[in-house]
Amino acid sequence: MSQTIIIESSEEASNLMGLNLNMYVGTDVIHKKTAKEAIELLTVHPAIDLIITRSSIGEEKSSNLIESFLMEKERSIPLLILGEAKSDYELAEILNDSELKDVVKAAGKALGVTAKMMVEKIVPEYYPVSSSLFLSIDEVNCDIYLRLKKNAGKDLQYLKRIHKGDQFTKEEIQRYISHGEKFFFIPADHRLSFANDYSKKMVAVLGRDDLSNDERIKANENAFNTANENILNFGLSEETVELSNASISSISQTVKDNPSLSKMFDNLLNNKAGYMYQHCQLITHFAYNILSSIDWGSNEQKDKLGFVAFFHDIILTDENLARIRNTKDLNTRNLPQEQKQTVLKHAQMASELLRKFPSAPIGTDVIIKQHHGHPTGMGLPDFVSNQIAPLTMVFIVAEEATDEVITYYEKTEKTIEKDLLIAALKKKFTTAKWQKIITPLESIQL
Ligand SMILES: [Fe+2]
Ligand SMILES: [Fe+2]
Repeated sequence: MSQTIIIESSEEASNLMGLNLNMYVGTDVIHKKTAKEAIELLTVHPAIDLIITRSSIGEEKSSNLIESFLMEKERSIPLLILGEAKSDYELAEILNDSELKDVVKAAGKALGVTAKMMVEKIVPEYYPVSSSLFLSIDEVNCDIYLRLKKNAGKDLQYLKRIHKGDQFTKEEIQRYISHGEKFFFIPADHRLSFANDYSKKMVAVLGRDDLSNDERIKANENAFNTANENILNFGLSEETVELSNASISSISQTVKDNPSLSKMFDNLLNNKAGYMYQHCQLITHFAYNILSSIDWGSNEQKDKLGFVAFFHDIILTDENLARIRNTKDLNTRNLPQEQKQTVLKHAQMASELLRKFPSAPIGTDVIIKQHHGHPTGMGLPDFVSNQIAPLTMVFIVAEEATDEVITYYEKTEKTIEKDLLIAALKKKFTTAKWQKIITPLESIQL
């Protein structure tokens, strides 16, 4: 088996990369926190096949140190450099802004593992699907398995629990969930057909006009998560586009059905809605309320902000990343460089992705790009640029109000009072131009 050194200061990032390399490329991984430590090992270890290093770690110019060492000792070991770098070493490949899968691919190439060999390893036999997705439907188009862990988790066994085409009830699914089964498993080769079939079923569910408020909220959440995930996994297919549109309409219906903020919020909490969907539903709520009372507001603009609320954080698949809303917060978390970059660029990346969405409301790509207040969609600026258009300002205020509601609840277990909410927003946005957008919230129903 080949041997790879990973030079990375974050243990979490190093382990994650190591696991993936081991699984997909079949290489043995040695972790080192600095280039200096790696060089100590390289001097005594003759058989290293690949080195992966960050371009710099703290003050250390890690990739330069490694290259100089390899060239001086005339050793020919392929070197993958993660981050911005310049290199004179013949066997170096610079991977700036790369995702983990690109690193895995480049490592495979360097070690002579073919793409075909990797694909065979990459596709697991079973693919996990969140169990709560099954609460909104009563039948699926493939067999569903539960995973059992044996021998302290070393051996995995899959048991067929629901047969293709069998009807099941919400209560049955709820029973599995309350027994701790967060995921069901589907055969990996059914993944796409399951995703498409699920999307079609959800479009039918969302279109029903007899859903209770709770059923609609649960369905909204499942559709929101599925649509976002499927777009990232399978692109803007006919099914994902149709599901997104049905889901955006249903979220807007939920705003109309729940004019009171505290009732809406209670409903979200009672249905144990996750952060991402809660965030989207509340932003839509505030944006609609502002647009209903501001003199230039219209239904067309509500449609635009409903669309933006649905997709603006699509790139941030991890709730912990989506919660980061300023640079200070980003810097205090010890995140791997790759994740930090994703947070800093998510607005621009989402805008790029959604630009291709068929018949997206006009201008929504720009609002998505500028939703953190920077004209080009880069970074998490502390001050919103004054080039931002009024409709984007409405979105920014709606998102800030949402953040206040959620963080206040997390601290106090109460819904924030209107006066406190307005005061917090006015403290954040001080100029007259912004206050005009906040004032309509003084008349919202709490
Ligand atoms: Fe957001
Ligand atoms: Fe965002």
